[in-house]
Amino acid sequence: MHFTHFTYAGLALAPSVLGQTLLASHYTGKIYTLAFSRNGNSGTLTSKSSVSGCGSMPSWLGLDSASGTLLCTDESGGNGRSAKVTTFSVGNDGTTTLSGQATTTGGDVHGSFYGGSDGKGFVVLSEYDPSTISTFKLPLTSSSTALQKIKFTQSKSGPVSSRQNAPHPHSAITGPMGNYLVVPDLGADLLRIFSINTTTGNLTTCPAASANAGDGPRHGAWWAPSASSLTGLRLYTVNELSNTVTAWTASYPNNSCLTLTKTQTLSTYPSGQAPPNSAQATNGLPAKAAEVHVSGNFVYVANRNDQTFGSQQDSIATYSIDPSTGALTFIEITNAHAWYPRTFQINKAGTLVAVGGQTSSNVAIIARNTTSGRLGGLLTSLQVASTGGNGQENGLSAVIWDE
Ligand SMILES: *[C@@H]1O[C@H](CO)[C@@H](O)[C@H](O)[C@H]1NC(C)=O
Ligand SMILES: *[C@@H]1O[C@H](CO)[C@@H](O)[C@H](O)[C@H]1NC(C)=O
Ligand SMILES: *[C@@H]1O[C@H](CO)[C@@H](O)[C@H](O)[C@H]1NC(C)=O
Ligand SMILES: *[C@@H]1O[C@H](CO)[C@@H](O)[C@H](O)[C@H]1NC(C)=O
Repeated sequence: MHFTHFTYAGLALAPSVLGQTLLASHYTGKIYTLAFSRNGNSGTLTSKSSVSGCGSMPSWLGLDSASGTLLCTDESGGNGRSAKVTTFSVGNDGTTTLSGQATTTGGDVHGSFYGGSDGKGFVVLSEYDPSTISTFKLPLTSSSTALQKIKFTQSKSGPVSSRQNAPHPHSAITGPMGNYLVVPDLGADLLRIFSINTTTGNLTTCPAASANAGDGPRHGAWWAPSASSLTGLRLYTVNELSNTVTAWTASYPNNSCLTLTKTQTLSTYPSGQAPPNSAQATNGLPAKAAEVHVSGNFVYVANRNDQTFGSQQDSIATYSIDPSTGALTFIEITNAHAWYPRTFQINKAGTLVAVGGQTSSNVAIIARNTTSGRLGGLLTSLQVASTGGNGQENGLSAVIWDE
């Protein structure tokens, strides 16, 4: 009795005393452990430690919080040169220690856990330049080789020929039941769909769903009206080239394949505001939507290089989800407090958004109202390592909450 009480009191104190931990990767090679603590409408963010080991171009972070396993992908290589996929174990204080590593095809821009008894038995890597996805069984070792390497083809270039002359898988989104994988292919304007054998990790190709021509789908997030049921399941995808978000319904016409049906496509900007193209942008580069996340009945999308809120101040779009239909309504764009926000993540409580500016190489912490879904003011921001060059792959690549 006394012990239970003591332990409980200790846990209850921890968040306010110790604050929260974040992990951020930088394209120049390191992963940083950051500490955040909130004080009303402000906060402090400090860099506590850093570790190398995720190859030469760390591009993406994923966390299995149950086992404290951090997944890091490496965007180097790809044109006949290999890269690394790496896991780290994350300690209670957020320090990271390399726990496993294998050699990949290269050009890895995203990784996801999937399969096994807990959905964390395997990883799938999206390899942009090689037009492949590769799967590995965990734990990774130096002798690990890919279980499958699936190379995509397309018969002709898409409308945006500079980006769509070949398939470019950009992420792999695991379905809520763990039985399906959706791979947005930016080059082919497809959502490629796979069924998962959760025991062996083997992927079987299902018929793909088509995005609109020139969309360039990049990333996706699931939503269902109730956390305990798949009834009304929706997928929301973000399209990098058309700067739009698309809503899809999901169904299972047979036992082996998921099908997705497109119901709605909306701009990531308010009506009347066009995303700047390369001729309009002060730095000569077009705006490019990057990531989509869901929290409660709201969807958020990061816009890169729109500079709507001033020099080097891009935006995040907020949409509400109609809880009975899953339809989206645009609410507003707000300041991302970052330039080129490649990644962002909302904490589990839904109260804080961590935004990772790639070119500004900062992590901005923004308050979120869990009732209205609106993003509020900047609580704090920290530059991590060196800023990136205009249009270069050399700033902060990813940020996630360690929770
Ligand atoms: C998964 O693969 C194993 C081994 O090939 C097979 O025995 C099993 O039936 C497969 N499971 C499903 C659901 O297809
Ligand atoms: C994996 O799935 C493919 C189909 O995608 C099939 O041809 C192959 O036999 C499967 N491999 C194993 C080991 O089950
Ligand atoms: C059912 O699954 C198979 C793959 O196993 C797929 O080829 C077929 O198109 C699916 N049927 C429908 C209606 O989606
Ligand atoms: C959050 O939004 C609700 C609904 O719009 C509003 O009533 C409330 O005052 C907001 N809370 C804060 C802290 O702004």
